[in-house]
Amino acid sequence: MTKPALLMTGSYPAWDLEEMEARYRVLRLWETSDPEAFLAEHGPEVRAIATRGDLGASATLMAVLPKLEIVACYGVGTDAIDLAHTRAAGIRVTNTPDVLTDDVADMAVALLLAAARQIPQGDAEVRKGGWAMPLTTRVSGKAVGIVGMGRIGAAVARRLAAFDADIAYFGRTRRDDLPYTFEADLVGLARRSEFLIITLAANDATSGIVNAKVLEALGPDGILVNVSRGSTLDETALLAALEAGAIKAAGLDVFWNEPAIDPRFGALPNVALAPHHASGTVETRKAMGQLVRDNLAAHFAGHSLITPVA
Ligand code: 8YV
Repeated sequence: MTKPALLMTGSYPAWDLEEMEARYRVLRLWETSDPEAFLAEHGPEVRAIATRGDLGASATLMAVLPKLEIVACYGVGTDAIDLAHTRAAGIRVTNTPDVLTDDVADMAVALLLAAARQIPQGDAEVRKGGWAMPLTTRVSGKAVGIVGMGRIGAAVARRLAAFDADIAYFGRTRRDDLPYTFEADLVGLARRSEFLIITLAANDATSGIVNAKVLEALGPDGILVNVSRGSTLDETALLAALEAGAIKAAGLDVFWNEPAIDPRFGALPNVALAPHHASGTVETRKAMGQLVRDNLAAHFAGHSLITPVA
């Protein structure tokens, strides 16, 4: 039987690539110097795309793949996939929820601790032979606002409950199954919070939702953490607030225009920065790759997808 043609938009770990090569005719879009010619040659055969959260799949790309049946995303966020196009064209979409929840929540807490306790600054000090540090900000027992109470938000809340945090959240809906305070107004949540943690899914409704007003309400003692997508906050307002001391600090895993992020971040003394790596552990990346492959296998066997995206 001929292997179905699978277009990969970006690299996956070697262990995934090996498995993919065994089952599919893998077309490595990211390795070609002339994507247009590559797609003109191979596009008509492509039945599946394996992409990543950061790369997605645009309508322009999918338009040159007339036999496309499925887009499998190595990541939970599907904001870079043109879902209007996939819906209209009847193309199935899958992602990798659940398997990465714990790691992303761990990273949110790590970035909060890093920003509040100035861990990168302490590391830099020791490396240069120094031993001086200013006093930092306690994390335990604080008022925490979680922006988005989905799987990742709830996992962050569970962790911070162990830090005796007073937890409130903003989201599309009140979660009666959870013991935290619902705040329907995001500015109100920021006002009552000492730390604000963004875990929202990125979409049209959440684009730029953490804006200058929210940052102003968080205030000069407030710390912001973002592990969702750069698009959920107004980065211009964030940079201005960090530079002016209008908020105290930030821990950021996601940015506008990744990986070419605004160089002003690098000059800030009050940020802990990570290169969109919250799900980046061997354990989670192995589970993500497996779930991508299991979804593709289910599709080609004519079964329901394990983790379909509506
Ligand atoms: C990954 C992500 O870093 O799950 C997501 O939405 O953005 C991350 O887990 C990414 O998909 C891998 O490139």
